[in-house]
Amino acid sequence: MNPAAAPPQGAQPAQALQAADAAHHLHPFSDPQQLREHPPRMIVHGEGVRIRDAQGHEILDAMSGLWCVNLGYGRVDLVEAARAQMHELPYYNTFFQTTTRPAAQLAAELAGIAPAGMRQVFFTESGSTANDTMVRMVRRYWDLMGQPRRKILISRRNAYHGSTLGAASLGGMPDMHAQGDLPLPGFEHIEQPYRLQLGRPGESEADFGLRAASWLEQRILELGAERVAAFVMEPVQGAGGVIVPPAGYAREIQRICRRHGVLLVSDEVICGFGRLGHWFGCQHEHIGIEPDLLTFAKGVTSGYLPLGGVLVGPRVAEVLGTRGGEFAHGFTYSGHPVCCAVALANLHALRDEQVLERVRTGLAPYLQRRFAKLGQHELAGDVDGLGMTAALVLWRDKRRREPFPPEAAAGLRCRDACFDAGVVMRAVGSRMIIAPPLVSTEADIDQMIERIGTALDATLLGLRRDGWMA
Ligand SMILES: Cc1ncc(COP(=O)(O)O)c(C=O)c1O
Repeated sequence: MNPAAAPPQGAQPAQALQAADAAHHLHPFSDPQQLREHPPRMIVHGEGVRIRDAQGHEILDAMSGLWCVNLGYGRVDLVEAARAQMHELPYYNTFFQTTTRPAAQLAAELAGIAPAGMRQVFFTESGSTANDTMVRMVRRYWDLMGQPRRKILISRRNAYHGSTLGAASLGGMPDMHAQGDLPLPGFEHIEQPYRLQLGRPGESEADFGLRAASWLEQRILELGAERVAAFVMEPVQGAGGVIVPPAGYAREIQRICRRHGVLLVSDEVICGFGRLGHWFGCQHEHIGIEPDLLTFAKGVTSGYLPLGGVLVGPRVAEVLGTRGGEFAHGFTYSGHPVCCAVALANLHALRDEQVLERVRTGLAPYLQRRFAKLGQHELAGDVDGLGMTAALVLWRDKRRREPFPPEAAAGLRCRDACFDAGVVMRAVGSRMIIAPPLVSTEADIDQMIERIGTALDATLLGLRRDGWMA
């Protein structure tokens, strides 16, 4: 029998488990063949902003897991909240006229911090299902408004809104659309406001912002406003490569939506719960919009347990709440009491420890200042970022902005070099991105930057050795 096929039991040696994983575990966004050739790194422990692998390497997690571990690892208060709720009531649902204490309390506390007069929330278990829920709410809203032709949702190319059929259709990732005949009908995409690719020579940031927003109006007019239900955007596009929109873009988008009666949705799965130094990213002065609906997940529990949801603003809440009766939609784990209890502990910690203020006034400016220095590296340029997100671009020839060909795999090389240097960074093509935990200290940030610098050096050496650079 293939030893890798033996069922893992007890405390197996890490190597055996890694082989078992490669043999049996189908991983998200991973090539199974590659995983068999290079079994995955096994992460066994986390404390603060650091994780440790099975071989004992300590790694700074500059990506907060998948943009979610906002309060860092090893929080006893979050663990204790889960434990206590598990004992009290590990599960009950929120269908059929029932609720639980944590679900009710979390709904009320979210209403207390939500932007744009939002007072109601629908709970899901992930960001993908939050977005699917939002799509169904938006379409139901227009049906109830007597405008059933308003079915189309517009979002942006390269946006990531999740992996379910609806969320993947809403997203604008070409590789995802190529698998399984997506997008579904009723989803349209405009270009992202990525100035580096789409800006014109001599065009100011403000002018580019207005031009990029005008692509939405153009598309609404092409489709006919009477068919457009909503526009969906992240405040800062995360998985698309930390694309920070030009100043003025989001406000202009809001004006266009209002002009054509189109609902505006902020996907805050990444930007919510402090990532930009505010409860929600739309509240950051660089963004400055008041969406009609808002989707969230990840940072609501700092990733300790799965939870997501849709916050609903007055325009939609009034219609869904007073006409049409039952909303035929929901999940077994909508408002799961243990997840809600952890979310409450997380919100309380963010508030009581003044995490958002600290991010806004100290940590985020420090991160941006320190990260900008990486732009002096021979390989790196076009540093950008907002709040606790940042990105740089790997250039083959920085002065002439010559990109690497995909075969050079510059981003993946750099990602691997980062792991070797003891820091997690994510590659989106040749854009290298970070989103560190909100509880990082300045010393942690210094160490992250130092390790990224080491990784850039190693990447440069490798690219030279293999003939990709002079
Ligand atoms: C902006 C955005 N929306 C939605 C999602 C999907 O969330 P989940 O993975 O919880 O389904 C993600 C995940 O990264 C995201 O970044």
